[in-house]
Formats: sequence, structure tokens, C-alpha cells
Amino acid sequence: MKMKAIQINDYGDEDVLKYVAVERPEPEDDELLVKIIAAAVNPVDIKIRNGKGKKFGMNLPLIVGADFAGTVENIGGGIKKFKAGDAVYGKILIGCYSEYVIVKEIELGRKPKNVDFISAASLPMATLTAWQAIFDNAHLENGQKILVHGASGSVGSMAVQLAKAKGAYVIGSASGSNEDFVNNLGADAFIDYKSKDFETIVKDMDVVFDPIGGDTHKRSYQVLKENGILVSLVQEPFEELMQHYKVQAKIMASQPNPEQLEAITQMVEAGQIKTEIGQVFPLSEAKKAQIQSQDRNVRGKIILEP
Ligand SMILES: NC(=O)c1ccc[n+]([C@@H]2O[C@H](COP(=O)([O-])OP(=O)(O)OC[C@H]3O[C@@H](n4cnc5c(N)ncnc54)[C@H](OP(=O)(O)O)[C@@H]3O)[C@@H](O)[C@H]2O)c1
Repeated sequence: MKMKAIQINDYGDEDVLKYVAVERPEPEDDELLVKIIAAAVNPVDIKIRNGKGKKFGMNLPLIVGADFAGTVENIGGGIKKFKAGDAVYGKILIGCYSEYVIVKEIELGRKPKNVDFISAASLPMATLTAWQAIFDNAHLENGQKILVHGASGSVGSMAVQLAKAKGAYVIGSASGSNEDFVNNLGADAFIDYKSKDFETIVKDMDVVFDPIGGDTHKRSYQVLKENGILVSLVQEPFEELMQHYKVQAKIMASQPNPEQLEAITQMVEAGQIKTEIGQVFPLSEAKKAQIQSQDRNVRGKIILEP
């Protein structure tokens, strides 16, 4: 049986994204076949397409797409937790710009009941990444202070909400046009990074969350208190800055985690986390969707519907 998917045969710009029919895979014993109802567009898709896939050791051709929401179509003999028809969502790394995807149980969570599949698809990558950055790596505690760069972005907006739910004092940094949005997520204070240098305003942070890197990353060490921690999604730490400011810094790569995904599902169902959708495209228009995502003309997650 065939399925439609967005495949790349070469690394390069958006023109390498091809809408094709490929063989629909069958699940092995420890796998599930999920019918995708919505898949999110993430920056990592564009990085993989541009050539990072090669650095990650991926083989071509490959189907792009890191997270999804859908229903279980078929299960391997060793699957216990899910059955055909279950509504699920999850984070992998590639394979989701497609009508169907093969996943392991560990990559899957129960879809929150109170949101549709489009909203559900926007959650796994962004929320798991924010969770692992601020809780697993930074060990953020109730009452601590955190600066969240990129607070209007997919991962940053989740970091703001998770940190607030933990009882932290949250300062969000984004463009001035997104101030109301970030404040509505629960941020206690806002910095427009385009008109103000955050390091002249912020000090004594327990944690800085950095999805930006570069100069923003380098200027972040000085706003931490002694032994505070800077967790970056994109930038290797600078040993000399860690020593100079007597702080810690880490780079992290997010991982699937079914227990955390269930905790996220429960927070969404309890109304503690909300998500914003920017635009929805049919799967066949993945090229337009990635251009829209790169240009950032709209706030919120870009979603593909097979
Ligand atoms: N390591 C991992 O496991 C992992 C996982 C997920 C994502 N990532 C990476 O993390 C990055 C962010 O991902 P995302 O999905 O959140 O992207 P996104 O939705 O495009 O968000 C990026 C945000 O950064 C803000 N921004 C840009 N320059 C800034 C600056 N100098 N100071 C403060 N904010 C700034 C933008 O805000 P305005 O629009 O308000 O200007 C935008 O909202 C990407 O590079 C992605 O590849 C890594």
C-alpha cells in the first residue's frame, strides 16, 4: 500500500522537498503505525533539510518532520500500552511529514482530550524540549528567577508557562510586538530585545533559557547569580565565561520521554499550558509552510495536514 509523504533526495533549500508516494511501512513487534492527522513544522526540519541530516548520520532519501498527532492504525505484537484507534501524539526526529509514521512506544503519548489534533501536534517537540531544559538540566525550583529568551517562540512560550506553573519568577524576552502575548503566558516581566540590552536590566538569575545562541548566549552569563545555570538549545558553552562569572552552562538535545509527555497531557487538560497555531497548510504545500516558518511572518506553530 502507498502513502503520501514529503521526501528529500538531496540536502538543500526548500526546492529539495518533494511530495511523493512511497511504500507504507508495517510495524515490527515493538513498533506502532500511526495515521498522522497533523504534523508540526520545526526549525530542526529546516536544519536537517539544509544538510544537518548528514551530520546526524541520516541516510537519503528521508522523510522530514519531527512531531505529530494522530491515531494508532496498527500495532506490533509486543505493544501493550496502546491499541488501534487510540488518539496519540509524539516526538521523533524525522518521518512526520507523511500520512503514516512508524514509532516506538517510548516516543508516544496520550493526546490531550481537550485540544484538537492540530493543537496537539504543536506540543511534543516544543514542550518536551522546554521541560527537559528547565527541569532536567536547570533543575528550576519554586521561587527561583528565570530569564527566557525567545519567549514568543515555540519552545520559549512553553518554557514561560512551565516555569510559571512551577512557581518561578519569569522574565520573557522577545520582540516588542509580542509583549502582550508573552505577558498573557504568565511572564512577570518583559524585555524587548530589539530596543533594550537585557544585561543592563536583568541580574541575579538562577536560570537562563537560551534557544538563540551567538551574542545573546555570550551576554547571558553575566546576568546569572553565582552557581546559576545557562541552558542552551543551540550553543556550546564557553568555559572561560563559566569560570569568569562562576556559573554553569550546558547545551542539550531533547529526547522522547513518555512519562513527561503524560505529565504534559495532564497539564494541557488542566488548562495550565496553551499553544498557539500560526497557520495550517496541506501536506502537499510543505515547501510554502517551511518558507513561512523561516520568514516568521506569523507567530505560532506552522502545521501540516496530510
Ligand atoms: N536542542 C534541542 O533539542 C532543540 C529542540 C527544539 C528546538 N531547538 C532549537 O531552538 C531554536 C528555537 O526553536 P523554536 O521552535 O522555539 O523557534 P521559533 O518558534 O522560531 O522561536 C524563536 C523565537 O526567538 C525569538 N528571538 C529571535 N532572536 C531573539 C533574541 N535575540 N532575543 C530574544 N528572542 C529572540 C523570536 O522572537 P520574536 O519573533 O518575538 O522576535 C522567536 O519567537 C531553534 O534553533 C531550534 O532548532 C533545539
